[in-house]
Amino acid sequence: MRIVLLGAPGSGKGTQARQLVEHFGVVQISTGDLLRQAVADNTELGQKAKKAMDNGELVSDDIVLSMIKDRLQQPDTDNGVILDGFPRNLAQAKALEELMADIKCPLDAAVLLDVPLDSLMQRLTGRLTCQDCGAVFNKYTNPPRKDGICDECGGKLIQRGDDNETTVRQRLETFTEQTEPLIDFYKKQNKLISIDGTQDIDTISAEFKDVLKRFG
Ligand code: AP5
Ligand code: MG
Repeated sequence: MRIVLLGAPGSGKGTQARQLVEHFGVVQISTGDLLRQAVADNTELGQKAKKAMDNGELVSDDIVLSMIKDRLQQPDTDNGVILDGFPRNLAQAKALEELMADIKCPLDAAVLLDVPLDSLMQRLTGRLTCQDCGAVFNKYTNPPRKDGICDECGGKLIQRGDDNETTVRQRLETFTEQTEPLIDFYKKQNKLISIDGTQDIDTISAEFKDVLKRFG
């Protein structure tokens, strides 16, 4: 299974990817997570990416593409991958096509989590992420049982630096300008599957499992 998860910031890509990984035994590759790790480790790549991420803009294609090429060559991807947050513009989508053609494993589908942009501010400013296991909560709609503590592993919950109102506004604008055109790109290739991302998390997850089982 080789799937792209398309969706605006806060549409639920990470939340759904975690469940799909468990269900289908594939790996999630989130360029956002890889970039945040590089920033936390203060690598040269992280230092280059930080400013764009803090501003809610896209990190340059050369950085992201070299990162994704390395990641796709690792053997744990043999069973399948869920690409979460990549590609994010037409240049990345075309580069991905070439990469997949080289390894003779074309993409099966691009799944769009469709959510109106005006409902995403609360999801993002309320998001809490476990710093140990990556589980995602929301202080308004999906709070942890104990304040600040992960239900799954007991780790500390943190708020992402780019989940503030100003940066979220810019991230949503970047999505509209650069990522939304990919919806048409994949529609023209007959690879687009659209899921209503306003439903509750478990309903969406059941729908995902159902539409993706033919690729499993
Ligand atoms: P990235 O980490 O990819 O962020 P994003 O696309 O902005 O998406 P998010 O991770 O914020 O949202 P999500 O869809 O995963 O939602 P989640 O499941 O967490 O990228 C960050 C930055 O890195 C970018 O701005 C850019 O600078 C850079 N970058 C990354 N990839 C790049 C690339 N390819 N090229 C260039 N630059 C790149 O859910 C959000 C909240 O909503 C949670 O609290 C959750 O509990 C809640 N929630 C989820 N589903 C539901 C539901 N159905 N109902 C109610 N609440 C829900
Ligand atoms: Mg995410």
